[in-house]
Amino acid sequence: MAEAMIAGLLAKNLVKSDQIVASHPREERREELQRKYGIRLFEYNRDAVIAAASEKENQASASIVILTVKPQRLNLILGQLRDVVRPEHLVISIVAGARIETIGESLQHRAIVRAMPNTPAQIGEGMTVWTATPEVPAAQQAQIHVLFAALGHEMHVEEERMIDMATALSATGPTYTFLVMEALIDAGVHLGFSRHVAEELVLQTMLGSVLFGRKSRKHPAELRNMVTSPGGTSAEAIYQMEKGGLRTVLSKAVWAAYQRATALGKKGKE
Ligand SMILES: NC(=O)c1ccc[n+]([C@@H]2O[C@H](COP(=O)([O-])OP(=O)(O)OC[C@H]3O[C@@H](n4cnc5c(N)ncnc54)[C@H](OP(=O)(O)O)[C@@H]3O)[C@@H](O)[C@H]2O)c1
Repeated sequence: MAEAMIAGLLAKNLVKSDQIVASHPREERREELQRKYGIRLFEYNRDAVIAAASEKENQASASIVILTVKPQRLNLILGQLRDVVRPEHLVISIVAGARIETIGESLQHRAIVRAMPNTPAQIGEGMTVWTATPEVPAAQQAQIHVLFAALGHEMHVEEERMIDMATALSATGPTYTFLVMEALIDAGVHLGFSRHVAEELVLQTMLGSVLFGRKSRKHPAELRNMVTSPGGTSAEAIYQMEKGGLRTVLSKAVWAAYQRATALGKKGKE
């Protein structure tokens, strides 16, 4: 996800490569990122923050520190950064479940943005939902809009609980989509299509349906009714999907992901 952000920011010319400092514990990964993006890399997170801060000393704007490690590693990293994050820094976390309160207390810091992107960000088609503490000034919030727009679509929300909700819906969303995609491709193969033909039929149908739905602005049920003729193939397929509880399964999956996101947040606070 960090790499997607770096790639997006550079591709859209929002920052220059010498304005990005990152860290990674593994040397080969540091070399790879350095080669690909021309950014500076450090082994330790602290050194990356210190290097970025010293660079900014003579500039008007402050550094943005972006936390992109796995939730299980966050506490350790917050401990490492506590005495190098300065009050003028803006801290952005994309870590699933990590609450603003937890990050703020660990870093003794108030200007925090909590965001939730998703994997299509890697091709600039992401959906990022974010919220900011009142200590993040309006000018910096405007920068955040631009920063996340580099990853695709972005949406600011007022309440932090909506970040956990977005974690379940849009950040976990590609998982639901890919599973449905895979199941439909397998169904096509079951019918007798070769895999690559089934893949093309399913992918273009999903893509076309999304674009059509967005452009027409009609309710999904209305779009579905348009292709459901009496006694036809869609009616037969819908009957089986409802009988199998597809709607309920999806709803339960999203709810379970939401519970998991909030549980991760509580764990981080312990
Ligand atoms: N992927 C998503 O769709 C998505 C969506 C929304 C939010 N997020 C959040 O984004 C965060 C990162 O997720 P991801 O999918 O990008 O995971 P990831 O691919 O595993 O990226 C985390 C990176 O951090 C590196 N790392 C490990 N220890 C480190 C340390 N001490 N200091 C600095 N870097 C360290 C990891 O190295 P190794 O490869 O060597 O372990 C890995 O390259 C997570 O908190 C997740 O909740 C992810």
